[in-house]
Amino acid sequence: MRLLVTGGAGFIGSNFARMALKTMPDWELTVLDKLTYAGRKENLEDLDSDPRFKFIRGDICDEKAVSEAMEGCDAVVNFAAETHVDRSIDDSASFVRTDVEGVRVLLEAFRKEERQLFLQISTDEVYGSVEKGNSVETDQLAPRSPYAASKAGGELLAMSYWTTYGVPVTVTRASNNYGPFQYPEKLIPLFITNAMNGEPLPLYGDGLNRRDWLFVEDNCRALIMIIEKSEPGRIYNIGAGQEHTNREVTSSILEITGADRNLVRYIEDRPGHDRRYALNVSLIENEIGWKAETSFEEGLRKTAGWYRGNRTWWQKIKSGEFREYYLSMYGDRLTNSRESG
Ligand code: NAD
Ligand code: DAU
Repeated sequence: MRLLVTGGAGFIGSNFARMALKTMPDWELTVLDKLTYAGRKENLEDLDSDPRFKFIRGDICDEKAVSEAMEGCDAVVNFAAETHVDRSIDDSASFVRTDVEGVRVLLEAFRKEERQLFLQISTDEVYGSVEKGNSVETDQLAPRSPYAASKAGGELLAMSYWTTYGVPVTVTRASNNYGPFQYPEKLIPLFITNAMNGEPLPLYGDGLNRRDWLFVEDNCRALIMIIEKSEPGRIYNIGAGQEHTNREVTSSILEITGADRNLVRYIEDRPGHDRRYALNVSLIENEIGWKAETSFEEGLRKTAGWYRGNRTWWQKIKSGEFREYYLSMYGDRLTNSRESG
């Protein structure tokens, strides 16, 4: 099978490409990635020598680039997206462009030929904040951030191509991923690298928001199984059932890195901050036969180990564009921070 993997130079996409080439000898992969601030060619460096792997720099909103990259492909896995909630609150334009319009451009190119699968990578954030219980795939969508709303737009559009044109679309909604190669703007890699540098760990609000933490390799294994087994028109939640408050995550990071507890700072909350996400994963367990295998403790140790062993990777990022971003996102909030929530 020939797959077009968009956004494959980012965090989940690069982990997926590596696992797919390792475990699926009959697959050939073309990665199409714009290399935004979040995408890095070096995330795929070790795959360059594999004759089944090809990299193209390009934008999923560019019709010509997309139709050239898709030539001869049987399946598309669309990871390409703007992904950081805080950035979407500052400026939603690139989110609507890539996460909605980009999906339309991909779908239009896809439906020009008979192909096997369009896998749209969506998110559990489309359900909105879930105070109690677990979201099932048939729940109404209630996205609350510009990021989540754009992702909901993208997956609804993809599903509309299944209903309208019979395009074989499958959608996945995963919970919070963590692991190697995650850009250090997200909670876990930001806190691990700040802890390793002896810098503040800025917890939003009271630090009691909850997320279900999914080790990236478990997610990638689920996606490979879905590509092999899914019927078109399906939507699958992918979660690990490893729910923790941000305070608990922070304590685990302090313990693993041996950093000082005084580094923890409580700062002004994220506007519209979703309190909790939680997924019911019965469908993927029953239909696909997938279950998460990595405990949070094990996954976090592996992740911290990777950041410890790959300092140059994240130090390079943190000394570039990231510094400006960090200052504007955290500067004033850290000046006005508190020691308890
Ligand atoms: P990421 O930010 O690490 O990577 C995104 C990649 O997309 C980057 O390589 C970037 O260069 C590329 N990209 C952005 N705009 C593009 C464009 N217009 N054309 C081509 N490439 C473009 O993101 P991630 O965390 O790896 O997330 C991947 C996908 O999984 C996204 O669709 C995201 O919404 C979804 N998702 C992420 C999580 C998570 O916890 N990280 C959870 C659920 C779903
Ligand atoms: O749930 C899936 C989603 O998870 C993905 O679709 C998104 O692409 C991904 O970014 C992630 O969104 P979150 O907003 O949940 O992730 P983030 O790492 O930004 O934040 C996790 C929690 O930690 C959230 O409650 C906000 C909090 N937080 C985050 C940062 C960056 C802090 O308290 N301080 C911080 O500095």
